Amino acid sequence: MKKTSTITGHVDLSIPAIVLCLLLLLPGCGNTKNEHSNHPKTLKEVLKDKFLIGVALNSRQSSGNDTAAVRIVKEHFNDIVAENCMKSIEIHPEENRYNFTQADEFVQFGVDNNLSITGHCLIWHSQLPAWFCVDENGENVSPEVLKERMKDHIYTVVGRYKGVIRGWDVVNEAILEDGSYRESKFYEILGEEFIPLAFQYAHEADPEAELYYNDYNEWYPGKRETVVRLINTLKKRGIRIDGIGMQGHLGVTNPALEAYQETIDDYVNAGVKVLITELDVSPLPEPRRIGGANLADREAYRKEIDPYTDGLPEDVAIEWNNRMMDLFDLFLKNSDNILRVTMWGVSDGDSWKNNFPVSGRTDYPLLFDRDHQPKEVVTRLIQQLSEY
Ligand code: XIL
Repeated sequence: MKKTSTITGHVDLSIPAIVLCLLLLLPGCGNTKNEHSNHPKTLKEVLKDKFLIGVALNSRQSSGNDTAAVRIVKEHFNDIVAENCMKSIEIHPEENRYNFTQADEFVQFGVDNNLSITGHCLIWHSQLPAWFCVDENGENVSPEVLKERMKDHIYTVVGRYKGVIRGWDVVNEAILEDGSYRESKFYEILGEEFIPLAFQYAHEADPEAELYYNDYNEWYPGKRETVVRLINTLKKRGIRIDGIGMQGHLGVTNPALEAYQETIDDYVNAGVKVLITELDVSPLPEPRRIGGANLADREAYRKEIDPYTDGLPEDVAIEWNNRMMDLFDLFLKNSDNILRVTMWGVSDGDSWKNNFPVSGRTDYPLLFDRDHQPKEVVTRLIQQLSEY
C-alpha cells in the first residue's frame, strides 16, 4: 500500500489510465497485495512456526513416478512418512533377509527434497512377517529369542538411517479401547515389557532420534489412561519417549473435539508432546460406529454405504471442509504442544480409506482431491494464517 501511494503521489493526475496501469506493472511498483497474490502461500509456509506438516507417501510417490503427487508434496509438506515400506513385513520379510530397496528410495526422496523424515513403524502386530515371533514348528519362541529378534530388527533398521530419520513410531497400536493390552504375540511372549524394551533398543540404536508411541481411538478413556501409565513407566525408568502419535482416522462427526482436546491435555500433563498422525476424515457412512483403524474390523461392501461414487454433494463437501477446519483450529490452539500433523496420503485417490473398513468404496478423506486440486480448507487455512 505504501509503495502504491508513493507512486501515485508522484503521478500527474492528468496522465492516461493506461500509462498508470503500466507503471503499476513495473517490478517493485505493485502494491503489497499484488506481490502476495503473485506468490500464493503454501501449507508449510503458513504453518512453519506452528508444527511440521507431514504426509504419507506410497512407493510410486517416493520413487518419483507419481509426478502430480510429488509436486504437491514438495510444495506443501515438510515431513514425510512411509505408508508401508518400512513395516516389518516389507523391510524384514525373512529372519536373515532385509529388503531396503523401497525404504532407501523413500529416505533418499526426503534427503533430496530437504524434508524431515519419520520412521513408521518398528514393532506392530500387523504387517508383521509370519516368522518373527515363532520357531520353525510355528510355536511361540522364548522371551529371550524374541528379545534378540526385536533387538536385531530395531538395531538394523534404526541404525541404517541413524542421524537421517528424525523420529520413530517405536510401537504401534498395542493398547485396546478398554485400556487392556492387545493380545499380540509380543504381549503373549513378553507381557507389557515388550514396549519398554522396544524403546530402549531404539534409543541405543540412535540416541538422537525422537521416539513415539502411536495408536488410534485414544479419546477412549480406558485407552488413554493406559497410554498415560505407559508414559509414566518409561519416564520413571529413564527410558526416552518424546511424544504420543494420535492416529487421526476420523469421521465427520465422530469423535467430538472435546474428547480430542482432553486426550491432548492428558498427554501433555504426563510430560510428552503430541503428534497428530495418519490424519484422514471420511465423509462416508460408518458401517459400525467403532471408529479407528483396527485392520481386522472389516465390513462387506454394500451400495448403501458407498453413496458418493459420482462425486461429493455440495452439502457434504461443506460439512467435510468445516470439520477439517475445526480440527486444524484445535491443532493450532495446541500448537505449543504439537510437534507435527501428518496426512495419511496425498490425494483422495491414494487413500487407504477407499478400501478400509470396506473394500472398493469411493472416499474423500484427504486435503487434495482425485484431480490433485486443493480442497477449500487448504485455501481457508492459508488465507487465515497469512499476514494479510
Ligand atoms: C495402512 C496402509 O495405509 C495400507 O496401505 C495398508 O494396506 C494397511 O496399513 N494404522 C497404521 C498404518 O499405523 O500403518 C495403517 O496403514 C493404517 C492404520
